[in-house]
Amino acid sequence: MPARNSKQWTANPPLQRGEWIDSRVYTDDAIFEEELELIFKRTWIPVCHESELPKPYDFRTTSIAREPVIICRGPDNVVRAFLNVCPHRGMIIERRPSGSFYEGQPSGNPKRMTCMFHAWQFDMKGSCVYVSREKEGYQDRLCKEDVGLRRLRCEVKFGGFVWVSLADDPVPLEDWAGAPFECLRKTLDAEPLEVFHYHKAIVDTNYKLWHDTNCEFYHDFMHYHNRVTGFNDAYFARKNEAFDHGHIVVGTFEVNYDQYEGFESRAGLSFPHLPPNQWYMIDLFPGMNFNLRGSALRCDVVTPLGPNKTMIEFRGLGLKRDTKEERQTRINHHNSIWGPFGRNLHEDLIGVQGQGVTMRPGSESRRILHGRQENQTIHDENGMRHYYDEWGRWMNRLPSDPEKSYSPPATIAAE
Ligand code: FES
Ligand SMILES: [Fe+2]
Repeated sequence: MPARNSKQWTANPPLQRGEWIDSRVYTDDAIFEEELELIFKRTWIPVCHESELPKPYDFRTTSIAREPVIICRGPDNVVRAFLNVCPHRGMIIERRPSGSFYEGQPSGNPKRMTCMFHAWQFDMKGSCVYVSREKEGYQDRLCKEDVGLRRLRCEVKFGGFVWVSLADDPVPLEDWAGAPFECLRKTLDAEPLEVFHYHKAIVDTNYKLWHDTNCEFYHDFMHYHNRVTGFNDAYFARKNEAFDHGHIVVGTFEVNYDQYEGFESRAGLSFPHLPPNQWYMIDLFPGMNFNLRGSALRCDVVTPLGPNKTMIEFRGLGLKRDTKEERQTRINHHNSIWGPFGRNLHEDLIGVQGQGVTMRPGSESRRILHGRQENQTIHDENGMRHYYDEWGRWMNRLPSDPEKSYSPPATIAAE
């Protein structure tokens, strides 16, 4: 068919429903607000890695669905998470991105989280341990025991990542993500890992578009490096496997790094229990990605800031016991592909920003195709179909027509 007029352009494609979605899921303000409430406030988020809080009293701050969160390591070495909100009058307690409570601050006692507004203090378990002029102001009506911090569910798991949920009763973390992590569990839990790279990007695109690009490898046509080091029979046989809760895993094969001029095999620094130069990818609903390329692990976590604005935090990890030389090699391997000046990462960002340009709030609704069927191998788009089915369930909206209530794809196909 030649280029289409408006009616043809907006007509549904000749695919099954479930094989395409409506772009309003990326552009609609009300849908975005619902996603924060119904998805991000109820799921698990890997907010950081334990190596970023190595010592007792170390902390990091972040946010989930606009709620400020603080993660700290107690003197008992346990990592805990709390809302970073003072129970007195709601000031944010800690404003630094990271640091330590071990030493005193101009407006904070050592070993305490101190709200600088009226000097209330909390210990590393979130208990209130000091209310200034407590008796004078509250007599016997309110005491420290009544005003602890809001504790959040927090677990260190799957290679030492710190998982936090705002919900009191999320699906148990093991049930949530244990199955997709099975392919790398022995590898990630063999010995302590350490973050050696962190950067974040704020991108004018929807968070799901970023996750989409992590869920499909058809876009390897954009990555010259991947074509040169990968496009062979083993690459095209890689399985794209769906798991409960909207997650997928892209199976491994051996990458031929030496086919790319200037690159070298990563075999010498393979992660434990893996053959050389393997490449696994675990994509967790609603927007987390664990990407192990032989000698370096990358983790992406999205924070949705608006329908068309997303913060992505990127971490690179190696083995904690690396020698100085090994670590430098791992950093080079990581950065040559995923660093800001690497081969691939900026190409992915160009791709999703290009989508973001055509899908801003108010843009005309259009159909986004997820209909490639290749026996659930690497260029199949089953990962996205699987993701949006899960999204529909959480949101009670039909991804192909978000004004309608969710119904499963089998029902849709029979309509
Ligand atoms: S708002 Fe924190 S002590 Fe008053
Ligand atoms: Fe990519």
